Amino acid sequence: MDSKQQKAVLIAVVICGSTALGVGALIVFYAYYRNYCRDKSYHLRPEHAVVLSSDKNKMMLMSCRRKTHVSMMEYKGLESATDHFSDTNILGAGGFGCVYQANLLPAGNLSVAVKKISDATDHAVTQFQTELELLSNIQHPNIVTLLGYSIHAETRLLIYELMQNGSLETQLHGPSRGSALPWHLRIKIALDVARGLEYLHKHCHPPVIHRDLKSSNILLDSNFNAKLSDFGLAILDGTQNKSHIKPSGTLGYVAPEYLLDGKLTDKSDVYAFGVVLLELLLGRKPMERPAPAQCQSTVVSWAMPQLTDRTKLPNIVDPVIRNSMDMNHLYQVAAVALLCIQPEPSYRPLIADILLSLVPLVPVEMQNLCTVKAN
Ligand SMILES: Nc1ncnc2c1ncn2[C@@H]1O[C@H](COP(=O)(O)OP(=O)(O)O)[C@@H](O)[C@H]1O
Ligand SMILES: [Mg+2]
Repeated sequence: MDSKQQKAVLIAVVICGSTALGVGALIVFYAYYRNYCRDKSYHLRPEHAVVLSSDKNKMMLMSCRRKTHVSMMEYKGLESATDHFSDTNILGAGGFGCVYQANLLPAGNLSVAVKKISDATDHAVTQFQTELELLSNIQHPNIVTLLGYSIHAETRLLIYELMQNGSLETQLHGPSRGSALPWHLRIKIALDVARGLEYLHKHCHPPVIHRDLKSSNILLDSNFNAKLSDFGLAILDGTQNKSHIKPSGTLGYVAPEYLLDGKLTDKSDVYAFGVVLLELLLGRKPMERPAPAQCQSTVVSWAMPQLTDRTKLPNIVDPVIRNSMDMNHLYQVAAVALLCIQPEPSYRPLIADILLSLVPLVPVEMQNLCTVKAN
């Protein structure tokens, strides 16, 4: 072989070698990326998750192969664990019945929450199925964990982890009037809610729209970590014609385009998130009249012009947090709230962007409060 041939062979070897290396690197990258996606997201695949079908023009979530963390539980055991669903064990009330505390071990050291749905209407059954199917397949630190379910004649039960500090609504508007929630904790709660929503909008496939985000559906555990709950109205984005869905939700939190034209998108949840932010900032209920003389019917319309006014804003903040609030952060949070409640949905930010803007406002040591890891 002369030197020219040797050179040609060498070049060929180098080209083949680098091509093989490149292909190898691509394969490794692809495998890593697949694994990353699998870890980070929850895919609603027909073979393991939710199949939508239309029954009497109502959307029904149909059978699925459940993840193991949700099991069928014996009705009798739950009945005695709640002392026959006694009033003293009521944790809260909702649209179709009450939620009870159940002490599963005799010493009462394993407690759970049990939602009892005795209503046998199609509407109630659909909400039970929707919540069961969705929560069976979702595990996230900022979404309440469903532990099991039970069906006994016309009574349906859903069993959740117990959230010791109840709902954000009770904390803000109940007897303690928000005194357990200083400024930084309120922003941490907003961040937790944003994390839960971001998971639903961005990491579930297809994305999930909660449709009933409000302070009574945000629950607080013993460390005041916030978790989204009540998925009875939740809907899978992109799997059906959403323009024909009958508007549902709670007055004061429902986005105007959804209420008036039935237009439902992830931005409807963003609007409701903005209303919850206002509740945290102002300590007012969404439909509360700010003062007897004022005629505006929602806190959104009353607060909107004042959110951008740096002189007025500190005066409308919940008096309970006036001493603990960080003024610079106050203006930032108010700006985020103002964007979320824009009447035009395209002007509202994505929840992922809101999440990024809230992260720097929460002290690092508080961000680590959450000890459970996302699946
Ligand atoms: N896991 C839980 N731990 C503690 N309290 C709960 C739990 N789940 C619900 N609650 C209480 O019950 C209320 C109603 O529950 P929710 O799931 O929202 O029912 P509904 O679908 O009827 O609105 C909540 O606002 C809260 O006060
Ligand atoms: Mg509720």
